[in-house]
Amino acid sequence: MTPIRSLQDLIHLDMDAIKAYEQAIKACEHEKVKTQLRSFQGDHQRHVQDLSEELRKLGEQPDVRTDLKGFFIEAFTAVASHGTKSALMAMRGNEQLTTARYKAALDLQDVPDTTKGIVRKNYADEQRHLEWIKMALDQEIWKQEQPAQPGQP
Ligand SMILES: [Fe+2]
Repeated sequence: MTPIRSLQDLIHLDMDAIKAYEQAIKACEHEKVKTQLRSFQGDHQRHVQDLSEELRKLGEQPDVRTDLKGFFIEAFTAVASHGTKSALMAMRGNEQLTTARYKAALDLQDVPDTTKGIVRKNYADEQRHLEWIKMALDQEIWKQEQPAQPGQP
């Protein structure tokens, strides 16, 4: 696979992740978790922007259409059952996939250092997303009381 093709695939992967997060955020019933998921979704949006800009620098027109097929559809089904736990479980599966795909992309050959830097940075985001979701599931974060505190947003 050409490096350009690989970068384009990563853009599609991040686009899928944005859509999956949209579903998960809707399904989520806990404000604290929702906030975290929104921030992860924002990271994926940044990935799309950074990778698209990089592709343009390499003389390619990025394809940012969402063609949702394959990987995330099963997760959508899981999320459709609604609730914070199912949203987190679906996104754990998705983040395992995105983390693995970014890890594989670290080996990209014949790409500029700037491209490698972006892939490394995005991979670090993916590891962070996956770790947080695993932690939230381990600690059954949805069972914790979250009373509103005066003076806190
Ligand atoms: Fe992620």
